[in-house]
Amino acid sequence: MTATGSAAIHAARPEPIAAPPFAVISGAQVQRALQGRESQVVELAEAVYRLHGAGDSVNPPSYFLRFPDRPSARIIALPASVGGQVRVDGLKWISSFPDNVAAGLPRASAVLILNDHDTGYPFACLESSIISATRTAASAALAADWLSRGRKRPARAGFFGVGLIARYIHAFLAATGWSFDEIGVHDLSAVHAAGFRGYLEQSGVASRVTVYDRAEQLIRSSDLVVFATVAGQPHVTNPAWFGHDPLVLHISLRDLAPEILLASANIVDDVDHCLKANTSPHLAEQLTGGRGFLLGTLDDVMAGRVTLPAGRAVVFSPFGLGVLDLAVGKYVYDEVARRGELQVIDGFFHELRRYG
Ligand SMILES: NC(=O)c1ccc[n+]([C@@H]2O[C@H](COP(=O)([O-])OP(=O)(O)OC[C@H]3O[C@@H](n4cnc5c(N)ncnc54)[C@H](O)[C@@H]3O)[C@@H](O)[C@H]2O)c1
Repeated sequence: MTATGSAAIHAARPEPIAAPPFAVISGAQVQRALQGRESQVVELAEAVYRLHGAGDSVNPPSYFLRFPDRPSARIIALPASVGGQVRVDGLKWISSFPDNVAAGLPRASAVLILNDHDTGYPFACLESSIISATRTAASAALAADWLSRGRKRPARAGFFGVGLIARYIHAFLAATGWSFDEIGVHDLSAVHAAGFRGYLEQSGVASRVTVYDRAEQLIRSSDLVVFATVAGQPHVTNPAWFGHDPLVLHISLRDLAPEILLASANIVDDVDHCLKANTSPHLAEQLTGGRGFLLGTLDDVMAGRVTLPAGRAVVFSPFGLGVLDLAVGKYVYDEVARRGELQVIDGFFHELRRYG
């Protein structure tokens, strides 16, 4: 090699960098970092939807791992990358085992891996069922706010399917300024309905709480309906139940017959994501052979590109984007680091010298 060539290689060599420390963040730490931060997390969700809408993210399709011997179970991988100020890559890996609930264990369990933007090294593994519930509830509260602008703000909320996600959504609505004259509750399980009523009473809501045995009664009595069941296919089929034009947060995605969507104004978080995996919007696409029934995304509404028509129910169906998990996970990581509470695994990355 010539002297000039060797100098050029030498000059181009970057400064040496160390592998980042690898931290494990427990559910208790996640919960402490997010406690009382509902408004900030909703603002973060809004910022991430705007980044995603502007193309400053990578959010490929989720991968569903299913099992022939356990048909009701699944584990979903959500790889993603967020730009902007968050600037992190990573993967959410979340299991849903609905049979856990009867045995006293939450349905969903999850971890989130954060990867360093510059080196690609994973630098944290976080307990992520709380992060997932938090970002879902933050997105629901954000949608409730934006999609009720310009219409009468709902004063009667109905929770349809009342597990952990319903509890988080109620908590986020309450912490971001919503109060309701009435809260309706409906669940296939009387025990779960009673448990949710107990939570509402404990949380000190001033609303009148009614448990409805019949789905129709709950929907007809609510201006804001939150679906958080584990239904695999539509079980609410009558568009007339929505004749009072409620705002519907269709978080569980598969409760509504396509005919109900076709009679409503439909907003999603991401069109390509949501029209998959036999969600109700996916069924509506199959039924009509097109996407004309979709008005747009929540980002379209926030940016003023889409205006909601009066005189129709509004249905928000969020597929749930990995970019939201990453942003909330990075928020938690930064908060735990700021408090000096990162539990680092010394020497996690070990084989670091190229030739030993
Ligand atoms: N879209 C998103 O971003 C997102 C994110 C997280 C969770 N989710 C979904 O939210 C849903 C709820 O999650 P969870 O952790 O609270 O579940 P969970 O199992 O704790 O609670 C679900 C509740 O729904 C009730 N239920 C089931 N089928 C019903 C029906 N047909 N009618 C009335 N009640 C019914 C169950 O009895 C249970 O109480 C799941 O479907 C999950 O996939 C969506």
